[in-house]
Amino acid sequence: MSRKIVVTSALPYANGPIHIGHLVEYLQTDIWVRFHKACGNKCLYFCADDTHGTPIMISAKKEGISPEQLINRVHAEHLGDFKNFHIEFDNYYSTHSEENRQFSELIYNRLNEKGSIVKREIEQTYCPSCNMFLPDRFIRGTCPKCKSENQYGDSCDSCGAAYQPTELINPACATCGAAPTRKTSIHYFFKLTDYQKQLKDIISAGYTGKSVSNKLDEWFGAGLKDWDISRDGPYFGFKIPGEENKFFYVWLDAPIGYMASCKNYCDKSGLDFDTVWNSGEYELYHFIGKDIMYFHALFWPAMLTGAGFKVAKKLFVHGFLTVNGEKMSKSKGTFIKASTYANHLDPEHLRYYYASKLTEGVDDLDLNLDDFSAKINSDLVGKLANLASRSVPMLTSKLDGKLGTIDQGGRELLNQLTIAKEAIINDYENLNFASMIRQVAALADIANKYVEQNQPWTLIKTDAEKTRTVLTVIINAARILTVYLKPVLPIFSQKIEKILNIAPLTFADTDKVLEEHKINEYIRLAERVEKDKVNAMLEESKPIESPAAAETTTQLDEPIAAECTIEDFTKVDLRVAKVVKAEAVEGADKLLHLELDIGGITKNVFAGISKAYKPAQLVGRLVICVANLKPRKMKFGVSEGMVCAAGPGGAEIFMLNIDDGAKSGQRIH
Ligand code: 2FM
Ligand code: ZN
Repeated sequence: MSRKIVVTSALPYANGPIHIGHLVEYLQTDIWVRFHKACGNKCLYFCADDTHGTPIMISAKKEGISPEQLINRVHAEHLGDFKNFHIEFDNYYSTHSEENRQFSELIYNRLNEKGSIVKREIEQTYCPSCNMFLPDRFIRGTCPKCKSENQYGDSCDSCGAAYQPTELINPACATCGAAPTRKTSIHYFFKLTDYQKQLKDIISAGYTGKSVSNKLDEWFGAGLKDWDISRDGPYFGFKIPGEENKFFYVWLDAPIGYMASCKNYCDKSGLDFDTVWNSGEYELYHFIGKDIMYFHALFWPAMLTGAGFKVAKKLFVHGFLTVNGEKMSKSKGTFIKASTYANHLDPEHLRYYYASKLTEGVDDLDLNLDDFSAKINSDLVGKLANLASRSVPMLTSKLDGKLGTIDQGGRELLNQLTIAKEAIINDYENLNFASMIRQVAALADIANKYVEQNQPWTLIKTDAEKTRTVLTVIINAARILTVYLKPVLPIFSQKIEKILNIAPLTFADTDKVLEEHKINEYIRLAERVEKDKVNAMLEESKPIESPAAAETTTQLDEPIAAECTIEDFTKVDLRVAKVVKAEAVEGADKLLHLELDIGGITKNVFAGISKAYKPAQLVGRLVICVANLKPRKMKFGVSEGMVCAAGPGGAEIFMLNIDDGAKSGQRIH
């Protein structure tokens, strides 16, 4: 009987790109989901962008756009990255959605009615200049232990010490540099402590694996604490019911985003949400990284239990990614964005490599780039694609592309392959992908040995029909191994299906043989990994060298120009301008073409900022413009003004920000 399954991956923050570290989780989950689909189970995979919170609000402000504009842009970027890596969600939604607001309020109200929410006054760090409370990461200062400058409010990157923001020496607001003060405010707390017994029961019922439950025992031992679920405005998030300037903390509505994505999908597909999300008919599983265990093993099941929702059957937790044995590093070029990887290398190769390293445990996983090249070139190109490339072209060119029947020797080989099916399924189910890959690679070795022993390229000279039999066996072996790897290699598998002229493969197909069947022409299945492409990817991932970017204090890049009088200065008519249109200029390396609105007057400006800004980041934004600059004829058109920006050049150019209150056309004094 087939199963019904709902699966989620952790929601990525909507203020940054997907990188190869994130991909460990999305690939692990996607492979598991594809495995279930290939077994004939109904499996729904939900995710969304995690859109709320201070960092997103501040990133948007820095770019001079609204948080909504930022999260919409990032949503499209994330979707592009997931598509590149063949990660197929049944729904990819957003926590900034009506469904999420409603579920957040519903869960909060139910917890409140139960007495699980309390209000308390607390004192926090506050920036009087930004008029906002500062999360620890938005306070910078000198480490109280090692005296390193410019450290975060909660921990020091240099010596690793953890401390309170109040202990920092010379603390400053990371956004504006002002000295913070302390201020009190009423906050809402979720009484996690009330759920200790229920949580322990959930965990003993098998919600987490052994290493995770050991960690949880430590937390229980240290004693649970009530959880602060509110933040004061300004904050990008959902208002707490009955409050004017208090919002749900992003981590309250983030996991509720799983439900919102499911609800949005059910509404679009005519399914009943309560059945899919909350009944015993569907099994629910969450995939997360070990850094967010506290939220998913304690807060989230407690919230669900308190609000009368079912808790997932299992929480799958994976470790972090290291590259060449070390933490991903920007300066070494190993902090690799998904899009950068895809610019140089085949995403399916990363799927295969991660699968070859993934186990059910929480150990970190290393992407060793030499091992990566070796494994792809040996397993995928040398063993797997080799089976098809040594059989299909010969069959189509010399034997009319027609499969024959399988003889006794062939049947014995295929039996060795099909007999492994149960163990392979077991490995997939239990997330032991590494073991599954080892098994398939060993089976590919056996199949390649058969090729060597039977030498179809020699046999064809003397016995065409015997050769047809041998090629039929090899092609069937390739087909069975493709079934096994289909969850990992969806594109490779599609190509095999096309070559073999067959319907999409499922695990049930391993029990069949393909005989007396016409196949199609060969298409290339996999390319070798070339060292220069790997190096090019690392190069592209390194930060652009810029002395200004390396400095923590601002220094003058250029000497101050000769004096000008106030009369000289007033000749320059600086205006607030709104970017109405922004587009790339074909054939120009650095230029963007901007259409600026200066209070009803339109100016066309060519600005050398395309390395620093994408056109979409600029539309709608207010900038400072030299409005009376004499028009200049340039190669691509006439430029009628100039926008003010600072920085050494390249990607390090920053358009000067205008406060929200300003209107286009206003003069700058
Ligand atoms: O740690 C993170 O990247 C969070 N954005 C994960 C959220 S998962 C879920 F709770 F939404
Ligand atoms: Zn400030």
